[in-house]
Amino acid sequence: MPFYKENNINSNTVAYFWKITEDINWFKEKALLNEKSLSRLQTMQSVSHQKGFLAVRMLLQHIDLTDFDLYYDEFGKPHLKVESQMSKVKSQEINNINSKQKHISISHSHEFSCICICNKPVGIDIEICKEKTLKIASRYMDVTHLDNLTIADKIKKATVIWGIKESIFKLKNEKGISFPKHIFERPFKLEDKKGTAQLIFNNNTEDFQFQFDIIKEYAFVCALTK
Ligand SMILES: CC(C)(COP(=O)(O)OP(=O)(O)OC[C@H]1O[C@@H](n2cnc3c(N)ncnc32)[C@H](O)[C@@H]1OP(=O)(O)O)[C@@H](O)C(=O)NCCC(=O)NCCS
Repeated sequence: MPFYKENNINSNTVAYFWKITEDINWFKEKALLNEKSLSRLQTMQSVSHQKGFLAVRMLLQHIDLTDFDLYYDEFGKPHLKVESQMSKVKSQEINNINSKQKHISISHSHEFSCICICNKPVGIDIEICKEKTLKIASRYMDVTHLDNLTIADKIKKATVIWGIKESIFKLKNEKGISFPKHIFERPFKLEDKKGTAQLIFNNNTEDFQFQFDIIKEYAFVCALTK
C-alpha cells in the first residue's frame, strides 16, 4: 500500500504515514535522492531500514517536496530548507500552516514511516508496541504510571511513554538529555490520547504537549511546545 493516511494534529501541524508493502526496487525507482542520501542508502545494511528511509522520501513527494528540500544538522536532526523551496508546495494542509519557517520531524518503525510538518518545532515517534519496551520501563519512566492496567495496556502505555520521550528529545535535539532523569510525563490515560510533559534540563524547565494514537500495533506520538 502506498500513502496510508494523514493526521491533522492541529491547524498548524500535519503528520503523514506510509505503510510499507512495496519492494525495494519500487522505492529505488520512485524516490528522488540527493547525493548525501544516495551515499547514506548505500551504507544501510538492512533492506527494511532502506525501505523506511525511502518511504520518507515518498512522503515528501506526496506533499510536493523532495529529498532536495531536506538537510540534516550535525546531530542528525532533519530540517526543511527555506521558504523559496516551500512555495511550490501545493498541498492545502501545508499551506494552511501559515508560517514561513516550517519544521519537520521523521520516524520509522518496521512497516511504517511518518513525517510531520509544523510551523513550530515538533518531534514525532512511531514505535511497534512490544513486550521488551515494558520489560525495560523502569529504566526510562515512572512505572507507577502503568498501575492498574492489563498487560496489553501496560505494553501500549509504556510504548507511548517511550515515544513521548523520543519525541521531546527529537524536538529539543540537545546533547545530554536523559529520558529518566530529565523528561517527565504527567499522569494520563490511554483513552485521553493526549497529555503534557516537562523537560527539566540544565536548570531550565520547559512544558510540552503531546498527542498520541495507536495505529494497528504501533504507538505514534507527536510532541509540541506548549
Ligand atoms: C536519534 C534517535 C532520536 C532516533 O530515534 P529512533 O526511535 O531510533 O528512530 P526513529 O525512526 O524514530 O527516528 C529516526 C529519525 O530521527 C531523526 N533524528 C535523528 N537524530 C535526531 C536528532 N538529534 N534530533 C531530532 N531528530 C533526529 C532522523 O530524521 C532519523 O531518521 P532519518 O535519519 O532516516 O531521517 C534515537 O536513536 C536517540 O538517540 N534517542 C535518544 C537517546 C536516548 O536517550 N535513548 C534512551 C535513553 S534511556
